[in-house]
Amino acid sequence: MKLFLDTAEIDEIRTGIRWGVIDGVTTNPTLFAKVGGSYDEVLRQICKLTPGPVSAEVIADDVEGMVAEGRHFAALAPNIVVKIPMCENGLEAISRLAEEGIRTNCTLIFSANQGLLAAKAGASFLSPFVGRLDDVNEEGMTVIRELADIVGIFELETEIITASVRHPRHVTDAALAGAHIATIPFKVLQQMVRHPLTDRGIELFKADWAKATKAASAKG
Ligand code: G3P
Repeated sequence: MKLFLDTAEIDEIRTGIRWGVIDGVTTNPTLFAKVGGSYDEVLRQICKLTPGPVSAEVIADDVEGMVAEGRHFAALAPNIVVKIPMCENGLEAISRLAEEGIRTNCTLIFSANQGLLAAKAGASFLSPFVGRLDDVNEEGMTVIRELADIVGIFELETEIITASVRHPRHVTDAALAGAHIATIPFKVLQQMVRHPLTDRGIELFKADWAKATKAASAKG
């Protein structure tokens, strides 16, 4: 399973890549607003650092505007993927960009049917938002499971990105449900590393080592 970082923070991306666990990055207007500056410049930097796809989200809501923004982002770096929201205009823009060989990530997916439509329009990535479904008392992971089955049954050429990940359990569940990718906030990546028993184990090994070396130097 691939892991993407859901962030526009350069330091977080650098750290995740140094750890050797990050395959790509997703950004959106909310994440970009947290870092500010020029979106193009931030994207160029992220694309240079990141080995895999980097999603950049369009703001326009008409087809021509989405296609124009998509072409603009795609010209910034070869690993850019244009993020387009699920809607009628979004489907048309995805289809137009696919004809031009520009990869897209259909975002704000909340049902398997929306994912199926985006895949048929030619989206390279589908982003169902599990956390926001959980927020409204629905089972976010059901959409991942259903969509993974549909993609598998019909051998659709698309990858499922589990998005709106809020905690480490979402990542495990997404992997077991058959998602190709989970895009995660840096905080969740850190939470995945940690376990209290690991921390205690490290402390114990250190304490035992100190005792053993003290005893050895007292003897000899
Ligand atoms: O990848 C989409 C994500 O950024 C949305 O997350 O927590 O705002 O639902 P959240």
